[in-house]
Amino acid sequence: MVLSDMDAFVRPELVDFNGISMTRVFTSNWENVQNFQARPDDILIATYAKAGTTWVSQILDLLYFGQTERQKTLPIHERVPFLEVYLPPNMSGTEQADNLPTSPRLIKTHLPYQLVPKSFWEQNCRVVYVARNAKDNMVSYYHFNRMSYGQPAPGDWNTFFQNFMEGKMVFGPWYDHVNGWWKKKQTYPKIHYMFYEDMIEDTEREIDKLCSFLGLSPSAEEKKMILGGTQFDNMRKNYMANYSTFPLMDFKISPFMRKGKVGDWKNHFTVAQNEEFDEDYKTKMTDPTLEFRTTI
Ligand code: A3P
Repeated sequence: MVLSDMDAFVRPELVDFNGISMTRVFTSNWENVQNFQARPDDILIATYAKAGTTWVSQILDLLYFGQTERQKTLPIHERVPFLEVYLPPNMSGTEQADNLPTSPRLIKTHLPYQLVPKSFWEQNCRVVYVARNAKDNMVSYYHFNRMSYGQPAPGDWNTFFQNFMEGKMVFGPWYDHVNGWWKKKQTYPKIHYMFYEDMIEDTEREIDKLCSFLGLSPSAEEKKMILGGTQFDNMRKNYMANYSTFPLMDFKISPFMRKGKVGDWKNHFTVAQNEEFDEDYKTKMTDPTLEFRTTI
């Protein structure tokens, strides 16, 4: 599908799928998703949508495979397939993952932990989870749904704001996603739980932590190359990382690499919305061990 086909594509509606709001784009290949055969060295990159998936994908891809021809010729969504995506005739995440020639395979998912295919757990795969504070995550998601015709229409900001708090989002409530994966880590230690805000604050420190989880020790030169290649402005300009080759996105409405900041929510939330949000947040986020920063 190319950009000009967007007019013909009907934006998908939210449907209830095992108690999670989803769209047909992520459920119509479910049998293959559920039966996906993971390998022990697969690395699953799990996130709630718009938490920094592409950033960490690019970091992992550079860590494992360096600045090779692959990086220069294959877009990120081909190097790191999106497991549950299904846009026939030419995009099936499971098929792309099955055909990946790399070892390890880097595979992306936005599924809540309970919907992840069981072979990932059985094979004891490593999982890199990235979480982002709810306010910025919401803002980023709002702009993404405006520009991506593969998503339900966001409505106006006030509508989206209410829907986010009610969990009427593709991949379900943010609150359950981040909490669910946080709890899963207690019984499945091969999850490295990262925060977008920490990555913004000190990318090198976070890459070091990621490397110790993965058992990698890049040279100083490799680290420099990775830091450069994953810096926001560089990724924004990089056609193989900025999603400009992905169908169904209208960059004239909003670019995929939009701002890349912590605290943009302040430009969107009204004072009243912020109060309402904080009150509601307290009732949903009761685990004191899981803390997010909305400013750094
Ligand atoms: P904004 O919309 O706030 O700019 P995902 O990859 O999960 O869809 O997340 C997209 C968000 O991550 C966007 O946030 C995007 O700009 C941001 N992002 C992508 N690459 C980044 C980078 N290298 N540094 C900082 N933010 C990045």
